[in-house]
Amino acid sequence: MESVNKGTALITGASSGIGYHLTRLFAKDGYDLVLVARTAENLSRLSEELASEFSTRRITVVPKDLSIPNAAAEVYQETKKQGIDVNILVNDAGIGQRGFFWDIDFSKYQEIINLNILAVVQLTQLYLNDMRERNEGRILNLASIAAYQPTPMLAVYAASKAFILSLSDALINELKDTNITVTSLIPGPTDTDFFNKADMEHTVAASMADDAEKVAKEGYEALMKGEHHVVATAKVGAQAAISTVMPNELVSKMARKYMEEDKSK
Ligand SMILES: NC(=O)c1ccc[n+]([C@@H]2O[C@H](COP(=O)([O-])OP(=O)(O)OC[C@H]3O[C@@H](n4cnc5c(N)ncnc54)[C@H](OP(=O)(O)O)[C@@H]3O)[C@@H](O)[C@H]2O)c1
Repeated sequence: MESVNKGTALITGASSGIGYHLTRLFAKDGYDLVLVARTAENLSRLSEELASEFSTRRITVVPKDLSIPNAAAEVYQETKKQGIDVNILVNDAGIGQRGFFWDIDFSKYQEIINLNILAVVQLTQLYLNDMRERNEGRILNLASIAAYQPTPMLAVYAASKAFILSLSDALINELKDTNITVTSLIPGPTDTDFFNKADMEHTVAASMADDAEKVAKEGYEALMKGEHHVVATAKVGAQAAISTVMPNELVSKMARKYMEEDKSK
């Protein structure tokens, strides 16, 4: 069936994992797309896949390393140059690194903070200003259950996700009298390439990972309803809930267990 165009969704981290499945949902629903990630070949392959499967009218590929300062502004300028209004912004691209805080190179922390925090702040501010002019728009930010859990051996990543959740909640309040919504997608461990890249593939967390397509679907539905938070999936709902009320000392102790090697394998 011919899908009807509904506007443009820009998805960072579109080529893999949760972002990939979110992108497919937008394509299926007839959104024009702007796809952002570092690897141009993966974006081109995805663009061809979507064009052959769905009747998406316009797919724009913007290969960009968002951990480089100001790369987010270059993405914004590229969409402006091409006359694209972004109606939905999905800040999905994110990375982590397992290890004791002192063992990880500072340059890795710069990469994590630049990508998980600064690029999100910059993209959000730039596109939000346009959304405010139109008084319409939706933003989906990828937080994590780690946002509720100071996580030993994943300390900087977890702190970056706490930042995203806090930022999103503050924006929800600032935007309460507008037609712009901000939704935080809060996944538990999810089966994607994230674990390999973060040296987490043998951890307890990896062994309990959820299906990425299911996580994306729950995020997508919450975004479209303008919900503030969605913990995905229900499997980690109780863990998220207790993490918000338990003292951080106990939450950290629990979180550390998920970061340990899974000895059952
Ligand atoms: N997997 C989990 O357990 C889990 C749980 C909670 C939250 N999350 C969050 O969900 C989001 C997506 O993660 P995922 O699990 O789907 O990871 P993934 O499968 O590793 O996908 C990451 C995506 O981000 C892109 N990316 C990575 N570094 C980038 C950079 N410097 N600039 C631009 N794009 C970049 C990757 O493409 P390129 O490599 O080509 O750039 C890829 O498209 C992240 O924010 C993550 O923190 C994941």
